[in-house]
Amino acid sequence: LRVVVLFGGPGGEYDVSCASGATIVSYLDRERYRVQPVRISPEGRWIPGPTDWPAGVFGPHDLVAATPDPAVRSGAGHGQALEVLAAADVVVPALHGPFGEDGTVQALMDALGVRYVGSGMAASVLGMDKDAAKRVLVTSGLRVADWAVLRREVDDLSDADRERLGLPAFVKPARSGSSVGVSRVKNWEELGTALATARKWDEKVLVERSVIGREVDIAVLEHPDGRIEASPPVEIVLHQGGRDFLDYAAKYQDATATDILLPAPIAPEITAELQRMAVQAFEILGCRGLARVDFLLRDGVEPVFNEINTFPGFSATSLYPRMWAEAGIPLPRLLDTMIDTVLA
Ligand code: DAL
Ligand code: MG
Repeated sequence: LRVVVLFGGPGGEYDVSCASGATIVSYLDRERYRVQPVRISPEGRWIPGPTDWPAGVFGPHDLVAATPDPAVRSGAGHGQALEVLAAADVVVPALHGPFGEDGTVQALMDALGVRYVGSGMAASVLGMDKDAAKRVLVTSGLRVADWAVLRREVDDLSDADRERLGLPAFVKPARSGSSVGVSRVKNWEELGTALATARKWDEKVLVERSVIGREVDIAVLEHPDGRIEASPPVEIVLHQGGRDFLDYAAKYQDATATDILLPAPIAPEITAELQRMAVQAFEILGCRGLARVDFLLRDGVEPVFNEINTFPGFSATSLYPRMWAEAGIPLPRLLDTMIDTVLA
Protein backbone atom coordinates (compact mmCIF):
# COMPACT_ATOMS: atom_id res chain seq x y z
CA LEU A 1 0.00 0.00 0.00
CA ARG A 2 1.23 3.43 -0.86
CA VAL A 3 0.82 5.74 2.14
CA VAL A 4 1.45 9.47 1.91
CA VAL A 5 2.14 11.26 5.20
CA LEU A 6 1.33 14.97 5.01
CA PHE A 7 2.97 17.20 7.61
CA GLY A 8 3.93 20.81 8.31
CA GLY A 9 1.56 23.44 7.03
CA PRO A 10 1.22 27.20 7.40
CA GLY A 11 0.09 28.28 10.84
CA GLY A 12 1.16 28.17 14.45
CA GLU A 13 1.52 24.39 14.74
CA TYR A 14 4.06 23.76 11.95
CA ASP A 15 6.74 22.43 14.31
CA VAL A 16 4.32 20.19 16.18
CA SER A 17 3.10 18.76 12.89
CA CYS A 18 6.67 18.05 11.71
CA ALA A 19 7.19 16.05 14.92
CA SER A 20 3.92 14.18 14.36
CA GLY A 21 4.87 13.42 10.75
CA ALA A 22 8.28 12.10 11.79
CA THR A 23 6.75 9.70 14.31
CA ILE A 24 4.18 8.38 11.88
CA VAL A 25 6.79 7.91 9.14
CA SER A 26 9.05 6.12 11.66
CA TYR A 27 6.46 3.66 12.91
CA LEU A 28 4.50 2.67 9.79
CA ASP A 29 5.18 -1.02 9.16
CA ARG A 30 7.38 -1.32 6.02
CA GLU A 31 6.15 -4.88 5.44
CA ARG A 32 2.73 -3.41 4.75
CA TYR A 33 3.35 0.11 3.46
CA ARG A 34 5.45 2.07 1.04
CA VAL A 35 5.76 5.44 2.73
CA GLN A 36 6.16 8.88 1.21
CA PRO A 37 6.45 11.98 3.41
CA VAL A 38 5.16 15.22 1.91
CA ARG A 39 5.96 18.46 3.69
CA ILE A 40 3.78 21.52 3.42
CA SER A 41 6.15 24.43 4.03
CA PRO A 42 5.20 27.38 6.29
CA GLU A 43 4.60 29.29 3.04
CA GLY A 44 2.14 26.64 1.94
CA ARG A 45 4.28 24.93 -0.68
CA TRP A 46 3.83 21.15 -1.00
CA ILE A 47 7.19 19.37 -1.17
CA PRO A 48 7.19 15.59 -1.77
CA GLY A 49 9.97 13.53 -0.21
CA PRO A 50 11.26 10.17 -1.47
CA THR A 51 8.51 7.74 -2.51
CA ASP A 52 9.98 4.86 -0.54
CA TRP A 53 11.17 6.30 2.75
CA PRO A 54 13.23 3.67 4.62
CA ALA A 55 12.40 2.01 7.93
CA GLY A 56 13.94 3.47 11.08
CA VAL A 57 13.33 6.11 13.68
CA PHE A 58 13.53 9.62 12.31
CA GLY A 59 13.23 13.09 13.77
CA PRO A 60 11.46 16.08 12.25
CA HIS A 61 14.83 17.49 11.04
CA ASP A 62 15.43 14.34 8.93
CA LEU A 63 12.11 14.79 7.17
CA VAL A 64 12.57 18.51 6.66
CA ALA A 65 16.09 17.93 5.27
CA ALA A 66 14.67 15.44 2.78
CA THR A 67 12.04 17.91 1.58
CA PRO A 68 14.10 21.07 0.94
CA ASP A 69 12.45 24.26 -0.16
CA PRO A 70 13.04 24.70 -3.87
CA ALA A 71 15.70 27.35 -4.51
CA VAL A 72 13.58 29.04 -7.12
CA ARG A 73 10.07 30.09 -6.27
CA SER A 74 7.62 28.45 -8.59
CA GLY A 75 4.05 27.31 -8.60
CA ALA A 76 5.15 23.73 -9.33
CA GLY A 77 4.62 22.56 -5.74
CA HIS A 78 0.86 22.55 -5.93
CA GLY A 79 0.64 20.61 -9.18
CA GLN A 80 3.05 18.08 -7.72
CA ALA A 81 0.92 17.85 -4.61
CA LEU A 82 -2.15 16.89 -6.58
CA GLU A 83 -0.19 14.17 -8.39
CA VAL A 84 1.22 12.82 -5.15
CA LEU A 85 -2.19 12.75 -3.49
CA ALA A 86 -3.94 11.21 -6.44
CA ALA A 87 -1.44 8.34 -6.54
CA ALA A 88 -1.74 7.51 -2.83
CA ASP A 89 -3.77 4.55 -1.58
CA VAL A 90 -4.18 6.25 1.78
CA VAL A 91 -3.13 9.69 3.02
CA VAL A 92 -2.31 10.37 6.66
CA PRO A 93 -2.90 14.11 7.14
CA ALA A 94 -0.69 14.67 10.20
CA LEU A 95 -1.62 18.35 10.16
CA HIS A 96 -2.67 20.42 13.14
CA GLY A 97 -4.70 23.61 13.18
CA PRO A 98 -5.89 25.76 10.29
CA PHE A 99 -4.99 24.61 6.73
CA GLY A 100 -5.05 20.92 7.49
CA GLU A 101 -7.01 19.90 10.58
CA ASP A 102 -9.82 22.31 9.67
CA GLY A 103 -11.31 20.60 6.62
CA THR A 104 -9.37 22.38 3.86
CA VAL A 105 -7.06 19.49 2.97
CA GLN A 106 -9.88 17.01 3.66
CA ALA A 107 -12.02 18.77 1.04
CA LEU A 108 -9.16 18.64 -1.44
CA MET A 109 -8.73 14.90 -0.86
CA ASP A 110 -12.47 14.35 -1.20
CA ALA A 111 -12.43 16.22 -4.50
CA LEU A 112 -9.61 14.00 -5.73
CA GLY A 113 -11.30 10.83 -4.50
CA VAL A 114 -8.37 9.99 -2.22
CA ARG A 115 -8.89 8.01 0.96
CA TYR A 116 -7.46 9.41 4.17
CA VAL A 117 -7.15 8.77 7.87
CA GLY A 118 -9.39 10.70 10.25
CA SER A 119 -12.35 13.00 10.06
CA GLY A 120 -13.87 14.27 6.84
CA MET A 121 -14.36 17.88 5.90
CA ALA A 122 -17.49 18.67 7.89
CA ALA A 123 -16.33 17.19 11.20
CA SER A 124 -12.92 18.80 10.74
CA VAL A 125 -14.52 22.23 10.22
CA LEU A 126 -16.70 21.79 13.31
CA GLY A 127 -13.96 20.32 15.46
CA MET A 128 -11.50 23.10 14.64
CA ASP A 129 -13.87 25.91 15.57
CA LYS A 130 -14.22 26.00 19.36
CA ASP A 131 -17.40 28.09 19.09
CA ALA A 132 -19.09 25.90 16.49
CA ALA A 133 -18.14 22.67 18.29
CA LYS A 134 -19.53 23.90 21.60
CA ARG A 135 -22.75 25.16 20.03
CA VAL A 136 -23.39 21.74 18.50
CA LEU A 137 -22.48 19.82 21.66
CA VAL A 138 -24.48 22.07 24.00
CA THR A 139 -27.55 21.42 21.88
CA SER A 140 -27.06 17.72 22.61
CA GLY A 141 -26.77 18.31 26.33
CA LEU A 142 -23.00 18.07 26.80
CA ARG A 143 -21.54 20.19 29.59
CA VAL A 144 -19.21 22.94 28.30
CA ALA A 145 -17.66 26.05 29.86
CA ASP A 146 -19.65 29.26 29.32
CA TRP A 147 -18.32 31.45 26.54
CA ALA A 148 -18.94 34.51 24.40
CA VAL A 149 -17.84 35.20 20.83
CA LEU A 150 -16.19 38.39 19.62
CA ARG A 151 -16.59 38.52 15.87
CA ARG A 152 -14.38 40.55 13.57
CA GLU A 153 -16.10 43.87 14.11
CA VAL A 154 -16.61 43.52 17.89
CA ASP A 155 -13.84 44.61 20.26
CA ASP A 156 -15.41 44.44 23.67
CA LEU A 157 -17.68 42.30 25.81
CA SER A 158 -21.01 43.58 27.05
CA ASP A 159 -21.37 44.17 30.78
CA ALA A 160 -23.79 41.25 30.86
CA ASP A 161 -21.16 38.93 29.33
CA ARG A 162 -18.48 40.15 31.74
CA GLU A 163 -20.81 39.46 34.61
CA ARG A 164 -21.76 36.02 33.27
CA LEU A 165 -18.23 34.83 32.49
CA GLY A 166 -16.38 36.32 35.46
CA LEU A 167 -12.63 36.56 36.05
CA PRO A 168 -10.15 35.17 35.34
CA ALA A 169 -11.27 34.37 31.79
CA PHE A 170 -9.58 32.76 28.80
CA VAL A 171 -9.29 34.55 25.46
CA LYS A 172 -8.74 32.18 22.52
CA PRO A 173 -8.69 32.29 18.74
CA ALA A 174 -11.75 30.27 17.68
CA ARG A 175 -9.69 28.17 15.28
CA SER A 176 -6.25 27.40 16.66
CA GLY A 177 -4.48 24.70 18.61
CA SER A 178 -1.63 23.98 21.01
CA SER A 179 -2.65 27.09 23.01
CA VAL A 180 -1.31 29.32 20.21
CA GLY A 181 -2.76 32.82 20.66
CA VAL A 182 -4.42 31.99 24.01
CA SER A 183 -4.26 34.34 27.03
CA ARG A 184 -5.70 34.31 30.50
CA VAL A 185 -6.97 37.68 31.68
CA LYS A 186 -7.22 38.52 35.36
CA ASN A 187 -8.95 41.86 34.91
CA TRP A 188 -10.95 43.32 32.03
CA GLU A 189 -8.30 45.96 31.30
CA GLU A 190 -6.20 43.08 29.88
CA LEU A 191 -8.89 42.14 27.38
CA GLY A 192 -7.68 44.49 24.62
CA THR A 193 -4.14 43.04 24.58
CA ALA A 194 -5.43 39.47 24.79
CA LEU A 195 -7.82 40.14 21.95
CA ALA A 196 -5.04 41.53 19.77
CA THR A 197 -2.95 38.41 20.48
CA ALA A 198 -5.82 36.09 19.56
CA ARG A 199 -6.69 38.11 16.44
CA LYS A 200 -3.23 37.42 15.02
CA TRP A 201 -4.53 33.89 14.47
CA ASP A 202 -8.25 34.29 13.90
CA GLU A 203 -10.64 37.18 13.45
CA LYS A 204 -13.19 35.22 15.49
CA VAL A 205 -12.28 35.08 19.18
CA LEU A 206 -13.78 33.31 22.20
CA VAL A 207 -13.85 34.57 25.75
CA GLU A 208 -14.37 31.62 28.06
CA ARG A 209 -15.23 31.23 31.68
CA SER A 210 -12.30 29.75 33.58
CA VAL A 211 -13.08 26.32 34.98
CA ILE A 212 -11.36 25.59 38.27
CA GLY A 213 -10.37 21.97 38.20
CA ARG A 214 -8.16 19.33 36.63
CA GLU A 215 -7.10 19.02 32.98
CA VAL A 216 -7.96 15.54 31.65
CA ASP A 217 -7.95 14.13 28.09
CA ILE A 218 -9.47 11.03 26.51
CA ALA A 219 -8.26 9.46 23.27
CA VAL A 220 -10.89 8.08 20.89
CA LEU A 221 -10.17 5.46 18.23
CA GLU A 222 -12.48 3.99 15.60
CA HIS A 223 -11.81 0.33 14.79
CA PRO A 224 -12.27 -1.23 11.35
CA ASP A 225 -15.45 -2.99 12.58
CA GLY A 226 -16.95 0.41 13.47
CA ARG A 227 -16.45 0.09 17.19
CA ILE A 228 -15.49 3.40 18.82
CA GLU A 229 -13.15 2.95 21.76
CA ALA A 230 -12.26 5.48 24.45
CA SER A 231 -8.88 5.26 26.16
CA PRO A 232 -8.08 5.57 29.85
CA PRO A 233 -7.89 9.24 30.90
CA VAL A 234 -4.62 11.14 31.08
CA GLU A 235 -4.16 14.07 33.46
CA ILE A 236 -1.86 17.00 32.80
CA VAL A 237 -0.70 18.59 36.04
CA LEU A 238 0.81 22.03 35.54
CA HIS A 239 3.49 23.21 37.96
CA GLN A 240 2.66 26.85 38.20
CA GLY A 241 6.22 28.25 38.06
CA GLY A 242 5.19 31.63 36.68
CA ARG A 243 2.69 30.07 34.27
CA ASP A 244 -0.98 30.32 34.98
CA PHE A 245 -2.21 27.99 32.27
CA LEU A 246 -1.00 25.21 29.99
CA ASP A 247 0.57 27.37 27.26
CA TYR A 248 2.59 26.37 24.18
CA ALA A 249 5.91 26.33 26.08
CA ALA A 250 4.48 24.15 28.85
CA LYS A 251 3.11 21.76 26.24
CA TYR A 252 6.22 21.39 24.07
CA GLN A 253 9.29 23.21 25.29
CA ASP A 254 9.62 22.60 29.01
CA ALA A 255 9.26 19.00 30.15
CA THR A 256 9.52 20.10 33.80
CA ALA A 257 6.43 22.32 33.47
CA THR A 258 4.00 19.43 33.73
CA ASP A 259 3.53 15.97 35.16
CA ILE A 260 1.66 13.54 32.93
CA LEU A 261 -0.42 11.08 34.95
CA LEU A 262 -1.32 8.08 32.84
CA PRO A 263 -3.70 6.64 33.69
CA ALA A 264 -5.07 9.58 35.64
CA PRO A 265 -6.06 8.83 39.24
CA ILE A 266 -9.80 9.28 38.71
CA ALA A 267 -12.68 7.31 40.25
CA PRO A 268 -14.09 4.60 37.93
CA GLU A 269 -17.52 6.23 37.65
CA ILE A 270 -16.02 9.59 36.62
CA THR A 271 -13.71 7.83 34.16
CA ALA A 272 -16.76 6.12 32.66
CA GLU A 273 -18.54 9.47 32.33
CA LEU A 274 -15.51 11.05 30.65
CA GLN A 275 -15.29 8.16 28.20
CA ARG A 276 -19.01 8.32 27.46
CA MET A 277 -18.85 12.08 26.84
CA ALA A 278 -15.76 11.70 24.62
CA VAL A 279 -17.45 9.11 22.41
CA GLN A 280 -20.61 11.22 22.34
CA ALA A 281 -18.68 14.32 21.21
CA PHE A 282 -16.93 12.23 18.55
CA GLU A 283 -20.23 10.88 17.25
CA ILE A 284 -22.23 14.11 17.42
CA LEU A 285 -19.58 16.04 15.51
CA GLY A 286 -19.42 13.22 12.97
CA CYS A 287 -15.75 12.40 13.50
CA ARG A 288 -14.00 9.44 11.93
CA GLY A 289 -10.90 7.46 12.81
CA LEU A 290 -9.39 9.31 15.71
CA ALA A 291 -9.68 12.30 18.01
CA ARG A 292 -8.50 13.46 21.39
CA VAL A 293 -11.20 15.04 23.51
CA ASP A 294 -10.00 17.45 26.18
CA PHE A 295 -11.93 18.03 29.38
CA LEU A 296 -11.73 20.01 32.56
CA LEU A 297 -12.83 18.24 35.71
CA ARG A 298 -14.66 21.00 37.53
CA ASP A 299 -13.82 20.89 41.25
CA GLY A 300 -11.98 17.68 40.46
CA VAL A 301 -15.13 15.67 39.76
CA GLU A 302 -17.46 17.12 37.12
CA PRO A 303 -16.39 16.64 33.47
CA VAL A 304 -16.72 19.76 31.30
CA PHE A 305 -15.95 19.48 27.56
CA ASN A 306 -13.12 21.85 26.62
CA GLU A 307 -12.23 21.02 23.02
CA ILE A 308 -11.73 18.27 20.47
CA ASN A 309 -8.67 17.66 18.29
CA THR A 310 -9.48 15.75 15.13
CA PHE A 311 -5.80 15.15 14.43
CA PRO A 312 -4.16 15.29 17.85
CA GLY A 313 -0.43 15.70 18.38
CA PHE A 314 1.29 12.49 17.31
CA SER A 315 4.93 12.81 18.27
CA ALA A 316 6.40 9.87 20.20
CA THR A 317 5.93 11.83 23.43
CA SER A 318 2.48 13.14 22.51
CA LEU A 319 -0.44 12.14 24.65
CA TYR A 320 -2.51 10.38 21.95
CA PRO A 321 -0.06 7.57 21.10
CA ARG A 322 0.99 7.27 24.75
CA MET A 323 -2.62 6.83 25.85
CA TRP A 324 -3.12 3.96 23.42
CA ALA A 325 0.19 2.39 24.38
CA GLU A 326 -1.09 2.47 27.98
CA ALA A 327 -4.30 0.80 26.78
CA GLY A 328 -2.25 -1.97 25.12
CA ILE A 329 -2.06 -0.68 21.54
CA PRO A 330 1.54 0.14 20.59
CA LEU A 331 2.25 2.73 17.89
CA PRO A 332 2.65 0.44 14.85
CA ARG A 333 -0.63 -1.30 15.67
CA LEU A 334 -2.35 2.04 16.31
CA LEU A 335 -1.31 3.18 12.82
CA ASP A 336 -2.46 -0.12 11.31
CA THR A 337 -5.84 0.32 12.99
CA MET A 338 -6.19 3.88 11.68
CA ILE A 339 -5.39 2.76 8.13
CA ASP A 340 -7.47 -0.43 8.28
CA THR A 341 -10.45 1.67 9.38
CA VAL A 342 -10.10 3.81 6.26
CA LEU A 343 -9.94 0.75 4.04
CA ALA A 344 -12.72 -1.21 5.80
N1 DAL B 1 -3.26 20.74 18.68
C1 DAL B 1 -2.29 19.82 19.24
C2 DAL B 1 -1.43 19.24 18.19
C3 DAL B 1 -2.96 18.80 20.05
O1 DAL B 1 -4.07 19.03 20.41
O2 DAL B 1 -2.38 17.77 20.33
MG1 MG C 1 -5.91 21.54 20.41
